[in-house]
Amino acid sequence: MLSNKTQKHFENKVIWVTGASSGIGRALVIALSSIDCQLYISSRSEEKLQHTIDQCQESNKKNIVVLAGDLTDKKINQTIIKHIENISGKLDIAILNAGSCEYVDINNFDSSLFERQVKTNFLSMVYGIEASLPILKKSTEAQLIGMSSTAAYLGLPRAEAYGATKAAIRNMFAALRVSLQPHQISSSVICPGFVETELTAKNDFDMPAMITAVKSAEYILKGIAKHKQEIHFPNRFSLTLKLIASLPNPLVSWLVSLTIPKSSKARR
Ligand SMILES: NC(=O)c1ccc[n+]([C@@H]2O[C@H](COP(=O)([O-])OP(=O)(O)OC[C@H]3O[C@@H](n4cnc5c(N)ncnc54)[C@H](OP(=O)(O)O)[C@@H]3O)[C@@H](O)[C@H]2O)c1
Repeated sequence: MLSNKTQKHFENKVIWVTGASSGIGRALVIALSSIDCQLYISSRSEEKLQHTIDQCQESNKKNIVVLAGDLTDKKINQTIIKHIENISGKLDIAILNAGSCEYVDINNFDSSLFERQVKTNFLSMVYGIEASLPILKKSTEAQLIGMSSTAAYLGLPRAEAYGATKAAIRNMFAALRVSLQPHQISSSVICPGFVETELTAKNDFDMPAMITAVKSAEYILKGIAKHKQEIHFPNRFSLTLKLIASLPNPLVSWLVSLTIPKSSKARR
């Protein structure tokens, strides 16, 4: 449940949510659809985006516009923003959430997997920022939000590509936070722990402190409303990883090695 204060923050705002056809993005759109705001939602699948709208509050469905496309294409990002500008004349909040997760097989180290992860997670976000910054600068309440992960805190086995893209995003937002200040654009980076979505459904390992996508949307919207610089959750998981990351490197590597199943260790 969103508090009145959180709901008020989003009222009358024009918001772009990427990766809105499933998981966290869809949960964000469903939660925002109970508030009087204008939503633009993007991902590749137009059909799945329509399905997101089907699950939204009836009263606000008319305020949701589908702008589908592959966000790894720079031109698509520009076209989407042009549509938003033509229809609404402004953009207040860009929530750049689209992403995917592919795991590295250390016995088949494949650069094309890295290329795909960099394109989908990092470059698509850079294109989204490039397209939206000029229009965000015109808003008096602009917010730029980027989806990273708690995987950005530590080097985790198999997440060499995914984690690297998420660390790049977290680092980019640490810099943007400062460079966007003179332009009155507030920015937040999101670092969730495990969230129950299509992305994590593929995982074949234990996922401690996993939360639902609905709960993650609550944390995220509350954090955006508070202009938090880093929105991380759930605390019991994110703070533990932050603590581990602050330890001396040999200790970090030893603790991380404990998470590798014995069978994988044997194959090395
Ligand atoms: N679930 C977790 O535990 C977790 C934890 C930390 C961070 N995250 C991050 O949260 C974000 C959302 O993940 P999720 O768990 O909600 O996963 P999900 O259910 O698989 O959703 C991913 C979304 O990204 C979209 N997408 C993927 N590639 C795209 C592309 N090239 N162009 C446009 N849209 C694209 C997908 O839509 P289409 O397939 O229709 O394009 C989908 O809407 C990701 O950035 C993920 O890394 C997730």
